[in-house]
Amino acid sequence: MKIVVTGASGGLGSGVCRLLTEQGHEVIAIDLVDRGDLPVKVHVMNLLDRPAVDRVIVGIDAVAHLGNHTDFIPPDPQMILGENTAMNMNVFQAAINAGAKRIVFASSIQVVASVPRLPGDDPDAPPPPLPMDGDTPAKPTNPYALSKQLAEVMLEYFSKLYGVGCVSVRFPWMAPMERFREVPAKLAGDLRWARRLAFSFMSYLDGARLVAAILNAEKLGAGSGARIYLPASTGNFLNMPAGELIHRFMAGVPLRRPIDQITSVVDISRITAETGWTPRDNQIVS
Ligand SMILES: NC(=O)c1ccc[n+]([C@@H]2O[C@H](COP(=O)([O-])OP(=O)(O)OC[C@H]3O[C@@H](n4cnc5c(N)ncnc54)[C@H](O)[C@@H]3O)[C@@H](O)[C@H]2O)c1
Repeated sequence: MKIVVTGASGGLGSGVCRLLTEQGHEVIAIDLVDRGDLPVKVHVMNLLDRPAVDRVIVGIDAVAHLGNHTDFIPPDPQMILGENTAMNMNVFQAAINAGAKRIVFASSIQVVASVPRLPGDDPDAPPPPLPMDGDTPAKPTNPYALSKQLAEVMLEYFSKLYGVGCVSVRFPWMAPMERFREVPAKLAGDLRWARRLAFSFMSYLDGARLVAAILNAEKLGAGSGARIYLPASTGNFLNMPAGELIHRFMAGVPLRRPIDQITSVVDISRITAETGWTPRDNQIVS
């Protein structure tokens, strides 16, 4: 397939470009910067530049749209919401015009569980009912999260109007695995944000493998509708059985099934059934 990857120089996008190239796909990489170590040419351009987007996104099969502003502490709410939404519309509409049959979008867990200590936010608010999954109701509490939810709604519209298969992936905190090593010790000082995000994480490599799995999945092509996935590793920052984690740190959070049947704070069974993907990096080794 001929696949556009936006945010190609980023932590997630660079892995996606490498994986898709290894799998024999033709990758059209787009980013504001060229990191210089990708196996494909990077089109250095701004996704806010609509004529440039229209010039580069032509004659394609699919888009992995991963390039956005990523700040969720809002120094400039209008900018984050306005520019992310403009980039998303530029890319989605160009993809449709260019004949894309599937779109994968990097949404965020922040749509359902935003980080605490934002203005007006309750620092002790618990996570949504557990285990979370793609059906967990949206509750954005910052402009970044709102921009992600708007994009999910836009993709519903595009899938209905044009029959393109769309998947919004509400990624949890992603980083290289070695970066997570320092997290458990830091949690001792402040558990609130980790509690809010249900202690979930995922490696960039597993994120890239998931994007590729969605693009390759037979059942997620044209006419498959719009979906929302919430993936995560099967582990957690404290390397604790999920039941014990909930019992010790999230008492009172509503549970969607009996605690002895919860093996992970995020239920990825639907993602696995539809794409074959399972995370490989499930344990933080310090
Ligand atoms: N890393 C996480 O914890 C996390 C969690 C949830 C969702 N996400 C989402 O996943 C996606 C990838 O995240 P990441 O961690 O790789 O971030 P990243 O910052 O490493 O990569 C984002 C890339 O997008 C590019 N970009 C931003 N604005 C652009 C523009 N106007 N035009 C062209 N390129 C532009 C940046 O140059 C950067 O290379 C983002 O959409 C992010 O919101 C990330």
